[in-house]
Amino acid sequence: AIQYYKEPYRPQFHYTPEKNWMNDPNGLVYHRGKYHLFYQYNPGSHTWGNMSWGHAVSTDLTRWTQLPDPLGLRAAGFESGNVTEAFFSGGAISDPDNTSGFGIDEYGPLVAIFTLFYPQDLTHANGQLVRAGTQAQGIAYSNDDGLTWTQYEGNPVIPSPPSEYADQYADFRDPAVFWHAASKNWVMVVALSVLHKLLIYTSPDLKKWTQVSEFGPVNAVGGKWECPNLFPLPVAGDARRLKWVMIISLDPGGPAVGSGTQYVVGSFDGKTFTADAESIRETPIPDQTSSLDSAVTTYTQTANWMDHGPDFYAPISWTGVPNYGRVAIAWMSNWDYARDIPTSPWRGAMSVPRVLELRTIGGALRLVQRPVDGFEALVQPTPLYANAWGTVEEGRVALDVSGKALDVRMSFRAAGSTGVFGVALRAREGQETVVGYEFATERMYVDRRKSGSAVVTKAFPGVYHAPLAAGDDGRVRIRVLLDWSSVEVLGGLGESTITAQIFPDDEGTGITMFSTGVAEQVEVEVRSVDSAW
Ligand code: FRU
Repeated sequence: AIQYYKEPYRPQFHYTPEKNWMNDPNGLVYHRGKYHLFYQYNPGSHTWGNMSWGHAVSTDLTRWTQLPDPLGLRAAGFESGNVTEAFFSGGAISDPDNTSGFGIDEYGPLVAIFTLFYPQDLTHANGQLVRAGTQAQGIAYSNDDGLTWTQYEGNPVIPSPPSEYADQYADFRDPAVFWHAASKNWVMVVALSVLHKLLIYTSPDLKKWTQVSEFGPVNAVGGKWECPNLFPLPVAGDARRLKWVMIISLDPGGPAVGSGTQYVVGSFDGKTFTADAESIRETPIPDQTSSLDSAVTTYTQTANWMDHGPDFYAPISWTGVPNYGRVAIAWMSNWDYARDIPTSPWRGAMSVPRVLELRTIGGALRLVQRPVDGFEALVQPTPLYANAWGTVEEGRVALDVSGKALDVRMSFRAAGSTGVFGVALRAREGQETVVGYEFATERMYVDRRKSGSAVVTKAFPGVYHAPLAAGDDGRVRIRVLLDWSSVEVLGGLGESTITAQIFPDDEGTGITMFSTGVAEQVEVEVRSVDSAW
């Protein structure tokens, strides 16, 4: 039976923990038929602190079951209110060949690789002093599918970055690890956040690590670099044309406000990641002022943004997935106001898991994203609303349909037109979240300035743009996943996305189509998305 969440703002098909604070996805690994989703979690409250890992599992990347807090990955000292060692972000791998020696059966262990954070001076049992603020890389293993973890007695496996960066020890974090078959090594990418550098290490056994290269700074270098992720992707599905993609989150300095995520396409030889020349933006494209409201939005393209909205941060991808598939999930929030969002007793949601691919679009290799296949099973096959409108010139039409968890698809031609076309969601008098397209600048946008009366922060209301050209057939395509308190907007083949949280008043459920220009051959379809649980 379908069970709907009733709490205000609780997403229906995006993962949220039952209660407490959640931020970055951690330890995404496929192991023995299950997708594991670990995440930054405060077991004690719905504000950031006591950083520990939380845990959920799924067989289809769509319906998630929250599991008990994993034993062994809880901040030391949490119970007594005096945390001495916390678990920051990182990854996990399945080690079927037992290269680590931690395994006890034919499946091999799960190994988590994370940043150990020390909030206060600490003297270890071995007499070693660790200064307050230190971030070091550590590992733990599990032989019961991630329920119970044992910290490696030799932790930290990387106590500090190389000596020339020693003074940066306090911002050395977020390791991502994967198996590189060609060189038979584990590879780790980890951020030196303030320097906008990524360090690459290799290891035969996950315990002894050797630094082999570094990458950066490139492109967007605002704020701090966090949560890197490196993986191969075939170009246009052709496994013989493999490129490598580096994802880098940064905060602040994102495309909207606060946190954002960029990607760089290149190659990787087992030691060094080399960016393609066309993926490096030596000359920032000048600011373009939005025709909608110059006071609200200026637009700077200094990066290949993975998402152009404010609420898509720290995405990492699953390791160990069969069939070359690459699926990423992001924390659907922003450090600028994450602590202020009006949800209780939880705070924080994940994006829909997205399949990543590379395609040549507009002459350049672009990351394209679409919801994971399992998600499509939640989308009702019969549309609540489907209409081909022909030419729409001017005006607003309230569609005869409403809802709070919807999949809205629109496509149209915009040849030679100026103005905008789009839909307003969660609409009622004085409230709407607008998803539209600006013909003249060829950009889609989300406008959440009137998305609801809940006050988050001053920076929360805004308009966010993403470049989007018509497809080869001349049609502009936009898909919106609306889920109570968020919109994930995917344009074209998924080369542009905008993700934004919204906090509408509950009564606003209408959908209005509007146009101020001439949109031709307009088609709009609305489907309901059933609850995932
Ligand atoms: C990114 C981040 C990471 C860190 C974690 C702490 O959102 O700041 O760099 O490991 O969150 O919760």
